[in-house]
Amino acid sequence: MLAATVILAVLAGSSTGSFLSAFGETSLNERALMPNIASGCSTTGTASCGNTSSVSNLCCFESPGGLLLQTQFWDTSPSTGPSNSWTIHGLWPDNCDTTFTENCDPSRAYTGIAALLTAQGAASTLSFMQTFWKDISGNDETFWEHEWSTHGTCMSTLKPTCLPSGSSKGAEAVAFFQTVTKLFQNLPTFTWLSNQGITPSSTTTHTLASLTAAIRAESGFTPAFDCSGSNLNAVTYYFHLKGSIIDGTFVQISAPESGTCPSSGIKYPLKTGSPVSTTSTAGGVRSFWIFITPGTLPAKATIHASSAGGLLSVGTWSTQTLATYTLSGTTNSFTMTSSKGNCGVSGGTFTCGSGVSLTSFSAVSSGGALLLASGGSTAWTSDAVPSGSVVETVFTGSGHSQDYTLSIIAA
Ligand SMILES: *[C@@H]1O[C@H](CO)[C@@H](O)[C@H](O)[C@H]1NC(C)=O
Repeated sequence: MLAATVILAVLAGSSTGSFLSAFGETSLNERALMPNIASGCSTTGTASCGNTSSVSNLCCFESPGGLLLQTQFWDTSPSTGPSNSWTIHGLWPDNCDTTFTENCDPSRAYTGIAALLTAQGAASTLSFMQTFWKDISGNDETFWEHEWSTHGTCMSTLKPTCLPSGSSKGAEAVAFFQTVTKLFQNLPTFTWLSNQGITPSSTTTHTLASLTAAIRAESGFTPAFDCSGSNLNAVTYYFHLKGSIIDGTFVQISAPESGTCPSSGIKYPLKTGSPVSTTSTAGGVRSFWIFITPGTLPAKATIHASSAGGLLSVGTWSTQTLATYTLSGTTNSFTMTSSKGNCGVSGGTFTCGSGVSLTSFSAVSSGGALLLASGGSTAWTSDAVPSGSVVETVFTGSGHSQDYTLSIIAA
């Protein structure tokens, strides 16, 4: 399985120019996004749902809700939030088999979330929520209370007994809201779809496969899309967790279940309202303060082009059904074969076939995706965009009219 790791840790990163700075909130700096409390948990052990024997310390191992869902809305009737961003629904701790429990501790069904965040030094998180965590009826506070009491109180790593001694009442809910807003900022659905040519429209329809392929090409993983009738309305990204919800490492996985969208005829309706300024969404690359470790090299993969389609078994670029490649080695150095034979780059052209000599490739992690690189470069180029039965030769570099990257997607 292709697995990227999203580490919720503050890095001394230079790339503050992403989602938040455009949001124009100078108080939303990296320090403000640090959790107020520390769990003291290691983030190097087994991820939730990955244990083979019983784990006793559930303060540092999310259980039974070890399958974490970051859910987002695209609300258009009425519209909520910026016209160029999806909004937060929540973070849900499902059981590893996708069943779930809710409302686990009514004694911690806190009210007054906005006041709680302000009182505990998380005003910047509140400010972000006021723009990006919107209730469809306008009752944001009630919605936040609901998300916390319904889902947050079921998280084992947020039990009050797990918090550092002397923590304020409600500190675990503050940590919950801080983590959800951080995770959301690393899942820029609008930008990812837009990068793949999918933007809201009152007329265009999409297939579920094209929406899914777009997010997979950008993030490396398959999400689940939900529809309201034929209108795209929600997306869910799935994770396992190493350590605590407070400051753990989210390990993204592909959706283990389907959403409710039909297979075709899906509309992505326009939102009314104003856009957040978008110098921000900087290519959708998750660069703000989260570090993503290189994914593992899958043994079998399809190779997807960033603009459309991907590679056939002879190594040409096409929008037809993609070939499955066999990859041997590590992300630093591997070889590829297809059903046609060895794959390699010769004279700047990528081909696979019986007479082809194997050459070495590497995989570069970018925005959660694994990009195919030849000679260390992830740039690929062709003379035209393929269409129907017309395929294009794949060249290294950028010397032809169509430039793209190639994502390695586990098959
Ligand atoms: C994983 O740990 C949890 C918590 O102790 C336990 O309930 C579950 O049965 C364990 N899973 C396996 C496969 O042992």
